[in-house]
Order: sequence, then structure tokens, then C-alpha cells
Amino acid sequence: MCGIVGYVGRQNAVSIILEGLKRLEYRGYDSAGVCLEKGRRLEVVKKAGRVDNLAKELGRRRFTATTGIGHTRWATHGAVTDANAHPHVSSDGKFALIHNGVIENYAQMKAFLTGKGYTFKSETDTEVLCNLIAYHYAKEPARAKGRNRFMESIRKTLHHVEGTYGIAVLCVDHPGEIVGARKASPLILGVGTDEYILASDASALVSRTQNVVYLKDGEIVHLTPKRFSITTLDQADVSPVVNQLTWSVADSDKGRHAHFMEKEIFEQPAALENAMRGRFSADGSTALFGGLNISPGEFREMERFMFCACGTAWHACLVTEHLIERFARVPVEVDYASEFRYRNSPLDPRTLFFVMSQSGETIDTLAALREAKRKGFRVMAVNNVVGSSIAREADGGIYQHVGPEVGVASTKAFTSQLLIGAMIALYVARMRDMSYSDGVEYVNALKGAPELVRQALKQAPKIKAIAKRYAQYHDMLFLGRLSLFPLALEGALKLKEISYVHAEGYPAAEMKHGPIALVSEKCPSVFFAPKSEIFNKIVSSMQEIKARKGPIIAIATADAPLPDDLADEVIRIPECHEAVLPIVAAIPVQLLSYYIALERGCDVDKPRNLAKSVTVE
Ligand code: AGP
Ligand code: GLU
Repeated sequence: MCGIVGYVGRQNAVSIILEGLKRLEYRGYDSAGVCLEKGRRLEVVKKAGRVDNLAKELGRRRFTATTGIGHTRWATHGAVTDANAHPHVSSDGKFALIHNGVIENYAQMKAFLTGKGYTFKSETDTEVLCNLIAYHYAKEPARAKGRNRFMESIRKTLHHVEGTYGIAVLCVDHPGEIVGARKASPLILGVGTDEYILASDASALVSRTQNVVYLKDGEIVHLTPKRFSITTLDQADVSPVVNQLTWSVADSDKGRHAHFMEKEIFEQPAALENAMRGRFSADGSTALFGGLNISPGEFREMERFMFCACGTAWHACLVTEHLIERFARVPVEVDYASEFRYRNSPLDPRTLFFVMSQSGETIDTLAALREAKRKGFRVMAVNNVVGSSIAREADGGIYQHVGPEVGVASTKAFTSQLLIGAMIALYVARMRDMSYSDGVEYVNALKGAPELVRQALKQAPKIKAIAKRYAQYHDMLFLGRLSLFPLALEGALKLKEISYVHAEGYPAAEMKHGPIALVSEKCPSVFFAPKSEIFNKIVSSMQEIKARKGPIIAIATADAPLPDDLADEVIRIPECHEAVLPIVAAIPVQLLSYYIALERGCDVDKPRNLAKSVTVE
């Protein structure tokens, strides 16, 4: 969480940092702040609230610094106040620091430093880190002189730190320099011409350079306008690998859309095209994945699959489970990454692991990946961000290739995860029992998904009108069966996170075992009602809701014979292959929650208490 940006170069740092913070705001928006060099002083401006508040404050002053750091916070320790905003300055005024992560042993260190006379202005764990650097710097002035002393004090400090961090630090004695370091929080170095930008993700630097170095855990980077060097915590030199970003600044702009979420919902047909491009065999009967780093033979030997993820990505794993078991007849287990990492569940040795994560930085998913690897399992990643921690640590993987997703509510990343899940199911099925002709039919269905999504998106005006009628309800149920049960979970999550409406997702028949107690004219139910062998069962569940005066919004395939007057609202989606159905069914629930959130006046792209990628436990 939180956005970090640091600049050293020849340009005015403040505007570059501010632009970076605006682009990073989706990572956390509790407060924002900058620290700029001013002669032999560090000048800090920080404000609770959005980056716009900070921008107003900065607009009142003139800055000429060519070195500085900036931060948008997602609070973990201490309330959302000006004082707790980053950057934090050490009590001797020598260091300014921005931090993404959690310092777990901050209380002991704070007690230690207080005993040494250090004082604190905030309740954050971060300020302790900053003062600990000052302490080490002051302690050994003679042994490590000059520039190295800055680095040395940070290195010593980090040896004592338990927890996670991505940091950028300024020191008054070292003007024109920034030191950065990371452990389990992302940090990227942008390599420009006579300038370097350090950031927690590429969106903050893509307008200035496409050349980036992905820092690894345990590395420290030292920057001046002319050069950078990377070493490890143990002082070993690191030879940097400079990578090219594959997307441009236009990819992370809203364009003509009111919100990133709207833009990302409507770009799903193109996103799906990108996610499947070049990924079908020449005979058109199976999927091809270039980066699995596991031979088809080894893949076939696997007797089960285990998927770990969080939030929306976890819902995509549940759909994938359904499709793999249905089409490939291989058992699949899905776990929350946050539970898996501590559960120590018994695992069959011939299990292939998958983690799914849009950002590739979700700390629980990363920890699940590490736990599985530690136990000797091979781990594949389905991930959208090239060079992310998860992409780098996995043994192999499949990139989603849908471009940056900025809206906090995941949309295009979700449907591309569903698509890739469906392709994995096909790949495994074709190694086993699925015939050539069934494979061809399946592939053709997947190829048709973007067009079906385009058709589903045409329902937007109708869904907007429905949203107007349903925006003021306080509770909603989402009900679906089989592969659409996870879509019910996803619909409820979408609505909760951006509209703050209490919503629950259930398998439709399970509703009788408790949730039906909520049903009344005040609690609408959204039903997924595709035509299927169990369509009549779904209709029965709808009747049970109707009998209790619950309003019903049905999301039905075009061919589903819904009795007249059963549902209060009917949203039709095109009929489609089973592997494509969850993708198409996602569209109406995304639109419904988006329009309900708008009706309720919610900040769709920056829902309260949330941030785009959850890099703290
Ligand atoms: C989705 O709308 C959420 N904001 C959230 O559940 C998200 O899917 C989850 O945090 C996982 O993120 P990841 O895919 O980047 O790992
Ligand atoms: N733990 C720090 C704080 O609460 C950093 C949080 C963040 O990553 O934004 O200020």
C-alpha cells in the first residue's frame, strides 16, 4: 500500500513528485506529503486527505529543489492526521523518510530511542525507523565517513528491523542524494537522462522513462543525478538489470471516462483480446503458455492443483476450480492466501501451485507463494504486472497482459483472470480426456468472449436505470450456482467496496439455510439465472424470495425461460459456452455496483479505507 516517489536530477523536483503522487494515489489516500531539499535544510509539506489538498498547499509556495521525496499514505499505525503523514523527519532534523510497510518491532525500538533522548511527533512506526537511522548515523561518525556514512547508517538500521518496508531517505549532509531499500514492499528505479526516479510502482515514472530496474528484497540503492549503485544489506555489489516497461503513460490515464473503473469496465473486450493473443495452439484445440517453465509431461503428472489468492482474484480461482474439475476432472483446492500461509495444511506431493494476483505485490499472496516454495512445490503465477514480486519469485507463470488497472475495484483484471483460468482448464483437459473437437469448440468459444462481453456492455443504460431504483437499499443478496456462485461473491464484494451497501454472496440454494431471514421488501436479491440443467432449481429459489416479498434482479442468459412477473428486473446477457459464462456474467454486476456507487455519491476509484494493492498483512 502507499505510494512512494523520489526524484534526483536537474529538473524542479516538486512538480515531478506531485505528478507521481497523483498517479500513485490509488495505492493509498489517507494523507500525502513531500520533503524537498532547501539549502542545508529539509523542507516538509504534508497534509491529511487527498493529494489535491497537498497540491493546493504546495501551490502557495515556490520550490526550486532538484531532489525530493513524496508519499501517499494508507495508515497502519496511527490515525489519519497531518502529524502522521509522511515524510517523517528525525528528531535531530537530519533525515527525512517515506515508508511503505509495517515495522513490527517499532515499540521496542521506540522505547530504546526514547531512552537515548530521541523525541517523536507522530504515532507511526515509520518515525521510529527514521530516528533509528539518525541514531546509527550519530553513533559512528568517525568509522564511516562521507557519503558511505549515509548508506552505512541505513544498512545498520535495517539489520535491526523486523517487518516490511519500501523506503526512500534524504539526509541534510548529503544533498542531491537519495537512498532507497526494500523488503517485501515494491520499489522500482526509473533510469532517465541525468535523473532517477524511485517509486513504488511504474505508473509514477512512466511519463519520464521506460527504463526501469526492479529492486529485490534486501537491496539498497544509492542515487545521485549522475549515477546509481545497488548493493545488498551485506554490502555485496549488485549488477543491475535494466528492463523496458511495456506500457505507456496513456495506459494509466482515464481518457474520456469519468472514472478509471468505468474505463476499465468498458475496455474489457480489448483486454480479453490481449490476454488470449498468441495463446492458442496452431490446430486451434488447446491453450499455449510460453512462461510456465514446466514441460507438458511434468504438467500431466500433477494429480491436483492448489490455487491461492485474495479478494477478487480468489473469486477467479474459485471459477477456475470449477472449470478444471468440470473439464479436466483433476481435483483442485482453493485457499485464501492469508489462511494458507499459516494453516500448514497437508499437501499431496504431486500438487502444482498457482497464485493469482493482479498487482503481484499482495503480501499474503506473496507469502503463500514463498510458503509453497519453501515446502518444495513448484509455483505458477497468474499476474498482471510484469516485474512484480510475485512474477519474479514464481517458478513460471502467465501474464494477464491487460495493462495497468488503476481503479481500486478490480474489473478487467478479474475477467482476464477468469479467461486465463478457463485456458488452464482447457490445457489440462486436452492433456487428458478432452477430444480434439471439444477442444476446438472450447477455443472458438473463448475467442468469441470479447464480442459477447461487448454485447453485455450494451446493457449499461438499462443497468444504470435499475441502479437508480435500487441505490437506496441498505442490504442486498447475490445468489448464483456452480460456476456463477463465485460471481455472486464477486458481485457482493464489488457492491460493498465501492457503494458501502451491505451485500452477501451465496450459492442460491444455500440461501434457505440462513440468509433468507434477511429477505423482505427492503432486501433485494440479484440472481444469476443462466439456462442450464438446474435452471428450474434457480427459479424455485427465486419463487422462495418472491413469496417473502424480496425484490429480484435477474441476470439471465438470452435463452433462459424466466417465468413472467417473477423477477422485478431482468438483465439479459448472451447465451454462451460454460467456460465463457462467468466472464460475461461479470459485466452486469460490475456495472450495477458502479452505477449504484455513483447514485450514492461515492468516490468510485478511491473507496474509503481501501487501497489498490495490499502490501501489508
Ligand atoms: C478487488 O476489487 C479488490 N479491491 C481486492 O479484493 C483485490 O482483488 C485483492 O486485494 C487482491 O489483489 P491482487 O489481485 O492485486 O493480489
Ligand atoms: N506503517 C506506516 C504508517 O502507518 C506506512 C503505511 C503505508 O504503507 O502507507 O504510516
